[in-house]
Amino acid sequence: MKRIAVLTSGGDAPGMNAAIRGVVDQAAHHGIEVFGVFYGYKGLVEGDFRKLTIEDCQDKIRRGGTFLYSARYPEFKEEAYQLKAVEQMKSNEIDALIVIGGDGTFNGALQLQKVGFPIIGIPGTIDNDIPGTEYTIGFDTATNVALEEIDRISDTAASHNRTFVVEVMGRHAGDIATWAGVASGADSIIIPEADFDMEDVVRRVNNGRKSGKDHSIIVLAEGVMGVNEFVRNFKLVDPEHSIRGVTLAHIQRGGSPTARDRVFATLMGAKAVDALLNGQNGIYMGIRGEQLATFDIAETLQEKSHIVRHDLYQLNLDLTDK
Ligand code: F6P
Repeated sequence: MKRIAVLTSGGDAPGMNAAIRGVVDQAAHHGIEVFGVFYGYKGLVEGDFRKLTIEDCQDKIRRGGTFLYSARYPEFKEEAYQLKAVEQMKSNEIDALIVIGGDGTFNGALQLQKVGFPIIGIPGTIDNDIPGTEYTIGFDTATNVALEEIDRISDTAASHNRTFVVEVMGRHAGDIATWAGVASGADSIIIPEADFDMEDVVRRVNNGRKSGKDHSIIVLAEGVMGVNEFVRNFKLVDPEHSIRGVTLAHIQRGGSPTARDRVFATLMGAKAVDALLNGQNGIYMGIRGEQLATFDIAETLQEKSHIVRHDLYQLNLDLTDK
């Protein structure tokens, strides 16, 4: 193996740059060249490649986003585009591809493997929703950003004895909501993976107030409903309640990655190169029990559900049941 390529695709996630740097430096350590593909699968089809040097990666470890840029590119579902991508890589003498992204990115990688091109995946999405791994790159930073914002909102909420509903990202997953909710001592956490009853949410919030709390926080995962709809429904149960809604949106995707995101991203980037050198193909690098673990991409994409921390969700229910 003499030359490999790396791309980032789908929604950017803080720590993707650390993973790219892990790939480039580990490849250099083994005497392999790395080509960066710009704008994900779109760049792969259009031949938007450039050789990456250690210098290109210097200092990128502390930056959010992805310096290879990203794109959503539904056209890649079509075989003609996949074959064009393989042709581009072959004409650039690229032997294998490392993709960094979420399930859509892994789907694209699987198609390339099916047409005979070696690929390895690295899970990069703030949603933490890839089956198999306990952790995806960017989840830790996004959760900490959400937590920081909830802490700020709590100051103003307390000053006016208000309740705030804070909508966090996660697409169909409630991981950011669960972790930011437990970490902020939220009065209620609403996630797509668990049913909820608005009467029960209102009861918990009001019981908290009766026990002496001067404000309340509800963390709502975007996959359940929008914040305005939630506030409307809350008011149907308790019309006089002083409640406001905030959507954090893309704020959660930006900023310098946490140490955890940088360390795991670096580990996965470097080990993806080692995996290719060991002749592995069609797998992705994940984390189980704080250790590197590998998973089959085809099997992963057939799984319906990622690991959901029902224990943490239940912990919050217990703690807010006064
Ligand atoms: O997958 C990451 C994510 O930020 C989700 O949490 C969110 O639902 C989605 O991407 C937003 O997508 P876009 O940036 O294309 O609006």
